[in-house]
Amino acid sequence: MNIDSSVTGKTRLLGLIGNPVEHSVSPQLHNSLSLLLGLDLLYVPLKVDKENLEVVVKALKAVDFVGFNVTIPYKRDIMKFIDDNTKEAILMGSVNTVKKIEGRLYGYNTDGEGFLRAFKEAAGTGFKGKKVVMIGAGGAARPIAVKIAMDGAEKISIVNRTTQKSVELAEVVNENVAEIVQVYNFEDKTLKMAFEESDIIINTTSVGMSPDIDKSPIENIDYFRSGQIVYDIVYNPSKTKFLADAESRGCKAIGGLGMLFYQGINSYEIWTGVKFSEKDLKDIYKSFITILNK
Ligand code: ATR
Repeated sequence: MNIDSSVTGKTRLLGLIGNPVEHSVSPQLHNSLSLLLGLDLLYVPLKVDKENLEVVVKALKAVDFVGFNVTIPYKRDIMKFIDDNTKEAILMGSVNTVKKIEGRLYGYNTDGEGFLRAFKEAAGTGFKGKKVVMIGAGGAARPIAVKIAMDGAEKISIVNRTTQKSVELAEVVNENVAEIVQVYNFEDKTLKMAFEESDIIINTTSVGMSPDIDKSPIENIDYFRSGQIVYDIVYNPSKTKFLADAESRGCKAIGGLGMLFYQGINSYEIWTGVKFSEKDLKDIYKSFITILNK
């Protein structure tokens, strides 16, 4: 018998609560990070049914998990079972990272920060003084809108299929961060002007995600203008139709892989207190892409 000493009685636990969790690359990412740093941590996937969410959170607290991630569909529901949610997570309306500190559970949202880090790295600029168009107003849009406003955007124009959702999102940002959000319908005649005047365009919807790779949230490629930075949170495929259309019009196109990567890195940094160097991050990102391609 070969002896496996990768998990011992001293190993501390991290995990992922969600449903489904089978597709997640988080276990591989976080366990590889612990291996790289020589930290005795094990990250496990935990598929949880809705009616068991509260009891599972209590159990993870009781068995002294270091922390855990939360994914679809519990990012909002989990908040009521957490002792202290950060102000930012409350504004973003969701928690994807939980850490136990001195017996209490703290809820964080790393989606917004993950987006901002990825965007800044790929685009070479942040949002200060920028005019932004955001397509979509769902769960993914909110942390991004809040973060962009916090980073100093001059204007955010939100267009969404369901107007009620974009109006609610606009209220959150306008009332709590900065009064810079305006709401549009896809039918609005002024929508094209909002696109034309914008520096940055972001798709936060799932439109164009595999297998629907021939779809784009923006049908008319005249909405793009040369020099704009266009970001898609969709990472599969790595170049969506939305991004290919934008590129064909001379825009700088950035896919959503970086956001996925950095929200995970941020979680790991919160749990462990580690701060990865630029060089480490480059190496880790290269390996991360190979996980996804498997
Ligand atoms: P959530 O993230 O809140 O769970 P979702 O159903 O995943 O919601 O949708 C995320 C975003 O993609 C929403 O802005 C959604 O638009 P609606 O608010 O109108 O539902 C948008 N979206 C999803 N499918 C779409 C489609 N086929 N066309 C346009 N927008 C779409």
